[in-house]
Amino acid sequence: MHFIQLAALAATPLLASAAPSNLEVRQSVQKVTVNPATKYQTMDGFGFSAAFQRANLIVNLKEPKQTEVLDLLFNTTTGAGFSILRNGIGSSKDSSKDYMNTILPTCPSSATGTPDYKWDGKDSGQLFLSQKAVSYGVNTFYANAWSAPGCMKTNNNDANGGTLCGISGAKCSSGDWKQAYADYLVKYVQVYAENGVKVTHLGFLNEPDLTTSYASMLSSGTQAAEFIKVLRPTLDKANLTSIGINCCEATGWSVTSQHASQLKSAGALDMVYAITSHEYTSRISGTLSTEARAWQTEYSDLNGGWSTAWYSNGGSGDGFTWANTVFNGVVNSNLSAYLFWEGVQDRATNNNNNEKLILIDGQKYDVSKRLWAFAQWRLVRPGAVRIAASSGSNLKSAAFANPDGSVAVVVINSASGTQNVGISVSGAAVASPKVRAWYTDNSHDMSETEVTVGSDGTASASVTGRGMISFLVTARNASAV
Ligand SMILES: *[C@@H]1O[C@H](CO)[C@@H](O)[C@H](O)[C@H]1NC(C)=O
Ligand SMILES: *[C@@H]1O[C@H](CO)[C@@H](O)[C@H](O)[C@H]1NC(C)=O
Ligand SMILES: *[C@@H]1O[C@H](CO)[C@@H](O)[C@H](O)[C@H]1NC(C)=O
Ligand SMILES: *[C@@H]1O[C@H](CO)[C@@H](O)[C@H](O)[C@H]1NC(C)=O
Repeated sequence: MHFIQLAALAATPLLASAAPSNLEVRQSVQKVTVNPATKYQTMDGFGFSAAFQRANLIVNLKEPKQTEVLDLLFNTTTGAGFSILRNGIGSSKDSSKDYMNTILPTCPSSATGTPDYKWDGKDSGQLFLSQKAVSYGVNTFYANAWSAPGCMKTNNNDANGGTLCGISGAKCSSGDWKQAYADYLVKYVQVYAENGVKVTHLGFLNEPDLTTSYASMLSSGTQAAEFIKVLRPTLDKANLTSIGINCCEATGWSVTSQHASQLKSAGALDMVYAITSHEYTSRISGTLSTEARAWQTEYSDLNGGWSTAWYSNGGSGDGFTWANTVFNGVVNSNLSAYLFWEGVQDRATNNNNNEKLILIDGQKYDVSKRLWAFAQWRLVRPGAVRIAASSGSNLKSAAFANPDGSVAVVVINSASGTQNVGISVSGAAVASPKVRAWYTDNSHDMSETEVTVGSDGTASASVTGRGMISFLVTARNASAV
């Protein structure tokens, strides 16, 4: 109905311009009511990975391009403002192909022998990227091993599946390597700390329901619980009590659901910070029945050819599609974090597909709208609590109370035409709000737009069809006005 009205207005010569006037904004507002009294999950943030040596693409960029790309990823005023970096803990002997080299290329001859760690100071480019992230204020670092080093596994190889020796059903003549693997992960965390990067979350599996030609290690949730019971006290003994253990990075949500219940039955759930899932083999829908937080830690469009479109018929690489994907996870499935797969990748890998946010091609780069879909979420800062928001017609809305007292409202316009969105936050905290808004569509990237605040405190701004708009509501200091 609202649209019909707009279309009719647009047809009149006076309102022929594409941008709606303020008058029009006031006339046809889709109201989104935010209620801070209704609270949902706490957010940890949004992120990406530069594992498989992709971080080196940034290391190798010359200035000013290097800073431009770092700003696109981490800057909270000009870029995506990502707040979580997922680093791959290498398990391979060398750094050929997609392999990430391990800090333990050779194991001691027995599981209780003294390990000979070798730190190369680079960690496949990830240390550089992490240190840069720290300079942007990022403080959530998720270190995630795809596999234990091969010498700790039943198949003596960090690739091609296999199981950690010492786990139920995985007996090895070299002994039980659970403690050695826990010690190894602690060592990695300590090396990062020595280099100014505090790892906050630790994972020891990646897609443990899949055998691959790169680093992979098989595990059920029950088997993962056995290792968690060794890892938790090992971290605590090393004074790493605040590190959260994440598990288990299944290829899809249905296996993740099994992991969640297996971890619980095995009595390990209270040692887990977040149940982590990917979205490749089954999409996220519904909530996990778990008290632990839920994170989506890796997903991307593996099939489409490189696309920088915001909206091209809802394609799987479109920015608009990703805006909706993240929205679904956070609002419908209680996720506390949403991480894309590769932040950057080159042209040659996988026929230049959409598994990256930024294409780095030698000294040139190209930015997809998927990055700007994530940028629309940058107003939601780590520690924010999701609060209630009504949706409005053809709008998807989500609201968050940030730790600094501001309220972020993220809105997707599902309609094909422009809509005017009016945000109203109930409660005294924002009785006289100061409101800013930014939007993304086919021709804008998190561009700031005009906000009109009505006498009732409703803050309105217009967003184009299939666009996304994010509002930041801060309480105006009454006595300073
Ligand atoms: C983010 O970008 C702004 C604008 O270019 C710049 O002033 C600021 O220093 C950047 N932030 C960081 C942490 O580099
Ligand atoms: C852990 O912290 C305690 C108290 O600060 C200290 O006495 C102990 O040496 C530390 N242990 C390790 C392994 O760093
Ligand atoms: C949402 O996740 C939190 C943990 O972050 C949990 O306590 C809560 O029960 C979950 N709610 C639903 C509806 O799944
Ligand atoms: C509001 O502004 C006044 C005057 O500038 C200042 O004294 C007061 O601390 C401020 N209050 C808050 C909550 O920021």
